[in-house]
Amino acid sequence: MFFAAAAASTRVARPVSAARPLASMLSRGLATQTDAPTSAYNKQKDADGKYTVTLFPGDGIGPEVSGAVREIYRAANVPIKWEEADVTPSINHEGKQVIPEETVQSVRRNTVALKGPLATPVGKGHVSLNLTLRRTFNLFANVRPCVSVKGCETPYENVNTVLIRENTEGEYSGIEHEVVDGVVQSIKLITYDASERVARYAFHHARQNNRSRVTAVHKAPIMKMTDGMFLNACRNVAKEYQDIEYDEDLLDRACLRIVRDPEPFADTVMVMPNLYGDILSDMCAGLIGGLGLTPSGNIGRDASIFEAVHGSAPDIAGQDKANPTALLLSSIMMLRHMSLFEHADKIERAIFETIAAGERTGDLGGKLGTRAFTESIISRL
Ligand SMILES: NC(=O)c1ccc[n+]([C@@H]2O[C@H](COP(=O)([O-])OP(=O)(O)OC[C@H]3O[C@@H](n4cnc5c(N)ncnc54)[C@H](O)[C@@H]3O)[C@@H](O)[C@H]2O)c1
Repeated sequence: MFFAAAAASTRVARPVSAARPLASMLSRGLATQTDAPTSAYNKQKDADGKYTVTLFPGDGIGPEVSGAVREIYRAANVPIKWEEADVTPSINHEGKQVIPEETVQSVRRNTVALKGPLATPVGKGHVSLNLTLRRTFNLFANVRPCVSVKGCETPYENVNTVLIRENTEGEYSGIEHEVVDGVVQSIKLITYDASERVARYAFHHARQNNRSRVTAVHKAPIMKMTDGMFLNACRNVAKEYQDIEYDEDLLDRACLRIVRDPEPFADTVMVMPNLYGDILSDMCAGLIGGLGLTPSGNIGRDASIFEAVHGSAPDIAGQDKANPTALLLSSIMMLRHMSLFEHADKIERAIFETIAAGERTGDLGGKLGTRAFTESIISRL
């Protein structure tokens, strides 16, 4: 513990930013801490006593893992009605990739969705559907917790990290072009407003989940303007949350420290620009046994969409081999977002008891198929 405390990243003073666009400064000046950091779920039950949630079954193993969630929810009497929606994209008159209007309306109406993995064809001209969804619903914060699961032995015990990734811009802005033949450029776009928004959500999340610290992860010594502004936004938001400590860590140093000893990260919420979050969260997933166990929530102002971190796993699709745990745990984050705490606790307990009893899918070293694993969970509800 002594070493852990001594190795903790530098606590910083909170200097004021030097150069910022006027519009951002004005909007920041008007923003107050009472601004809701996210769209809180405030829907009423329908006449039949159930809440409606949009479901995207997804591609590849998506229908198998989302089918497992449906079966377990039915067995656990969760008061949810699924509204299945199609995300097959089309190109609109402006040449932009869009998802069907009924799907957009379903998510806007229900304000919450569960999403199976979507395959992105590799090649020119394909915009990731996941990016389209994030942009369509302004899903600005991607929350990725990684917690050690009893029964899944890894070299690490007691992993308990929470990482929040800025979800709308940064290296994933999709602004790329050819300067001249043989020279291409990709632009990392960072805005003060989006940085401030995700920083505020990170502090809100820390407070809500009894974490005492927020750590901004960055490469500001190299990317002085972009990451520098991201840090300035975090520092300014930190002033509003005097009950939460704030510190900063370099991306490379954070990776090194986490793989050496993840325990000091159990009391903090890490927040960072888009690409860093994508990579660091997969690294944390590796510490607990892989992608089959890691959930996530995409939090936005218009809606929140919960999904597993893994992809559509085309190599095992349709073979009854997929592990539904990550999507199930994502759905549990969703239940807590909807304040359905008892149902969340009940299903979570059944999943962890099943895995601890050695009843696991192949990716976790077990022998069960998706269906048998689902049955085992249901038998423990
Ligand atoms: N959020 C998303 O929808 C999302 C995320 C990542 C990748 N993708 C897409 O998924 C497709 C495949 O991507 P990939 O192969 O790089 O990554 P992947 O996560 O689909 O698969 C990586 C490896 O992990 C295994 N795996 C993944 N999930 C598993 C599960 N639940 N149970 C058991 N094993 C599992 C796969 O069999 C594969 O060996 C691509 O089209 C990619 O664009 C989608």
